[in-house]
Amino acid sequence: MTDAIVIKNLTKSFKNQKVLEGINLVVPQGKMLALLGPNGAGKTTTIRILSTLLNADGGQALVGGFDVAREPKRVRSIIGLTGQYAAVDEYLNGRENLEMMGALYHLGKSKIKPRAQELLEQFDLVEAASKPVKTYSGGMRRRLDLALSLISTPPIIFLDEPTTGLDPRSRILMWDIIKKLMEQGVTILLTTQYLEEADKLADRIAVLDKGKIIAEGTPTELKSRVGSERIEITIDHKSDFKKAVSLIQGSGLRQNPEERSIGISTDGSVKEIKRVLDILDGAGIEIDAMSVHTPTLDDVFLHFTGKETNNITQ
Ligand SMILES: Nc1ncnc2c1ncn2[C@@H]1O[C@H](COP(=O)(O)OP(=O)(O)O)[C@@H](O)[C@H]1O
Ligand SMILES: [Mg+2]
Repeated sequence: MTDAIVIKNLTKSFKNQKVLEGINLVVPQGKMLALLGPNGAGKTTTIRILSTLLNADGGQALVGGFDVAREPKRVRSIIGLTGQYAAVDEYLNGRENLEMMGALYHLGKSKIKPRAQELLEQFDLVEAASKPVKTYSGGMRRRLDLALSLISTPPIIFLDEPTTGLDPRSRILMWDIIKKLMEQGVTILLTTQYLEEADKLADRIAVLDKGKIIAEGTPTELKSRVGSERIEITIDHKSDFKKAVSLIQGSGLRQNPEERSIGISTDGSVKEIKRVLDILDGAGIEIDAMSVHTPTLDDVFLHFTGKETNNITQ
């Protein structure tokens, strides 16, 4: 199988700030890679280089076999890029926007209208098709933005945080749309701040932190390294807190003494949960509350860097 996207030792600085410090990634044809990272990690910079909007300082990037620096036109002809909204005209309606984009891509008069209709249906925008875009909700805008980038049926698609800031319903709708795209065999590079999103959609996940890939693997591999579930325990008495932490220990333990809470990575099994509870019980330490939840981006970062993200949007 050929690789749709190949990134070798890619570097980029803005003034004195190193934003990408030698990134290596491969996305095989027809697969999806999620680039997972907090704000400022370098996700958009990577996407902008791959989509020929920005030059790298060093290294190489091939998209569809074409070098982004040497053959930008060829690259542009085979990619779809979303996340910029640059293409959307606020005063036109959804259908007009799609038809205008079709014309821009020289789609041919007979093809434009059916393709626009097809995309409106696929993206749940039929009802909104004749309304001006300035009346659209955030979720509708995202969907139109994605539809616009697909007008020419590109085989390689870049999705830059397609669901950040969306309400849960719109997010799920967007996930369904992305899944359908994958069934059609397109190659997707998606960036996200949500482990859950990467986990649900992607074949592989690369975790980006301050311009470096700090972990890479399938969602299952990554989760088994981080722990597929987290237990959060609140200790009843403050005086027991230190003792509880020292008794439980283990990888990925996170403590918050003020809230008397302890977070632990586990495999989510009843056996493991029981083990922790038995330790506390055996020491006569009472607990106030306990919950089990799936890991977040913060948990992934805590595991791989020992630090939590300084994410401002989350
Ligand atoms: N055009 C630019 N000029 C200067 N600094 C930039 C520019 N674009 C991005 N940066 C900086 O590069 C870092 C990475 O940005 P970005 O790639 O947008 O991260 P992400 O998309 O992961 O949030 C940030 O610190 C950001 O401030
Ligand atoms: Mg970004």
